[in-house]
Amino acid sequence: MGSKRSNAPGKPDKPKRSVKFRKAKVRHTVFTLGANRLTGGWLKRKHDAQQPVKRHVEISTPSWPKALDGLRIGHVSDFHFGDLMNLEKAMMAVEALASESPEIICNTGDLVDLEWMGVEPLARAFVELNPPLGNFFVLGNHDELEDGEAVARVATEAGIHVLRDDTMTVSRQGHDFRIGGVDWARTPKQCTDRIDRMLQSGRPDLLLCHNPKGFDHAAAVGIPMTLSGHTHGGQIARRNKPDANMAFAHKRSAGLYEIGDNRMFVTVGVGAWFPLRMNCPAEVVIITMRHGEPSASHD
Ligand SMILES: [Fe+2]
Repeated sequence: MGSKRSNAPGKPDKPKRSVKFRKAKVRHTVFTLGANRLTGGWLKRKHDAQQPVKRHVEISTPSWPKALDGLRIGHVSDFHFGDLMNLEKAMMAVEALASESPEIICNTGDLVDLEWMGVEPLARAFVELNPPLGNFFVLGNHDELEDGEAVARVATEAGIHVLRDDTMTVSRQGHDFRIGGVDWARTPKQCTDRIDRMLQSGRPDLLLCHNPKGFDHAAAVGIPMTLSGHTHGGQIARRNKPDANMAFAHKRSAGLYEIGDNRMFVTVGVGAWFPLRMNCPAEVVIITMRHGEPSASHD
């Protein structure tokens, strides 16, 4: 029989950290903190002073249910709570949401950057906004780096609905409105598998999927609207061309996309991996959904 190593009495167990977490931590230390140090802290000071912009998008499509016409969604993503996103900076985005009073708040993942501890007040701040249809959240890849179960628990305990390959139905003006969400999935095939698992509890009107690579399958199974994040819009984009950016691994990396009558909006997010954004400001998005002829407008 083997013996188990344990910490000395009185010392708490150190969390077990995955190879992925340790690699991400090294990358963060070298490329983010290291680059910032080389600029004498200038990068982070500039980054910290930038407020998220508020963006209003109106999307009309015949596939959106008539009964849910006019739904106003507050869409946020990729806070990356940690060194580049303290509570004070995160609250700028929460306040931007509060000023718009959306009916529902949808957070498409990467709430934390590396370590999850300390994020609890941010999770509670979303709930304190008290949107009438509630707060919904799905896990992103960064949420899973240290302990995805812990991030999901913190959100749930705060009062956020965490959709893990699952759906939930709420009532809006007497009509059922089904929201679905899937855990982090890296490849299109993994996205498909998770979406199929979610569909066992019914087809949602609105899907939260951190990775925009889920859209092909979401559209194929007839989900009218998908919300995604993950790409950060590459953080560096061509002027006035948010879709032409550094997120080379993604063909859909910023803004609105369509397949037939189904739609996906990819937000460039609130936070950052690296304290620099060019032509790609952090954003809080207010989406109004309309049933009608295909059209889209934004400010
Ligand atoms: Fe992210």
